[in-house]
Amino acid sequence: MTTTAVAHPNIALVKYWGKSPDTDNRPASPSLSITVAGLKTTTSVEPAVRDTVKLNGELTRDQKIERFLEDLRARHPLPPVAIESRNDFPTGAGLASSAAGFAALITALDTAFELDLSDDERADWARRGSGSAARSLLSGFVAFDPEADPMIETIATPDDWPLDVIVGVTTTDKKSVSSTEGMERSRMTSPFYREWIDANRGDFDTARRAVDEQDFDALARVAEASCLKMHAVMLTSAPALVYWNAATVAAIHTIRALAERGESVFFTIDAGPQVKAICTRWSAPAVRRALAEVPGVHSVIDGRLGLGARVDRDA
Ligand code: PMV
Repeated sequence: MTTTAVAHPNIALVKYWGKSPDTDNRPASPSLSITVAGLKTTTSVEPAVRDTVKLNGELTRDQKIERFLEDLRARHPLPPVAIESRNDFPTGAGLASSAAGFAALITALDTAFELDLSDDERADWARRGSGSAARSLLSGFVAFDPEADPMIETIATPDDWPLDVIVGVTTTDKKSVSSTEGMERSRMTSPFYREWIDANRGDFDTARRAVDEQDFDALARVAEASCLKMHAVMLTSAPALVYWNAATVAAIHTIRALAERGESVFFTIDAGPQVKAICTRWSAPAVRRALAEVPGVHSVIDGRLGLGARVDRDA
């Protein structure tokens, strides 16, 4: 009996970059994201004689998943399981594939093996797999505050504020330094790390208010500032974490020029060189055209706000 779940990546508008020391992968500050339909992870699970993981058609050994299963088994009755997961977008290239993957995985395991997890328990398991994965469990604009109860919350649905997300893909190479390793390096070495963590709650509150009021310009300001501060922390880590390439910088300039011409658009970038443009539906055609023309952008993915992780009964 196979159970299949689907989940979308999420893109943070207020970023998380840093874990609380001596916790089990708990983010050190709150974050706010959008769940992005248009990119999808599909994960199937079924009982087996031993644990196996197939990722994009290839059997693989994934330490993060192995540890995740071990921890889950310590708390819930879970037989050996065969996992098969596919992404319809580049894996490990700064497009939040692990967030979508762990959100889909815990959703499929919960249903398949009747673990009976509450919403908050599912969020807690997802974030143990990948810090940002809890956010992919929910739809639309998602607030993730590790100190709050509930930890994750949809603050606006895709229908409330239907923004578009246009991703400029500048490479499909895997990132050179994983987020986990990069965050630890920043915590230990960046002179700005402490200020960054301390400032995040203010940005989180500002962004929440902007979403409540559907104030695009206010959201654009705080989201670009959060992204650039995170990259300042990365760049000032030792050795420096430089996730951008030339096309990333060119795309930033293109998006800023579009905004100056009156288009409603802003950019954000994660631990990789892809550039994500968030825009109104009205501005989307101009943004798509301009991003596709940036030298070094070799493809453009069209996304929009989407739903949280769910079991796919038709699979
Ligand atoms: O989910 P992780 O632990 O791979 O971290 C994701 C970190 C960023 O994507 C760079 C920022 C974020 O909040 O999503």
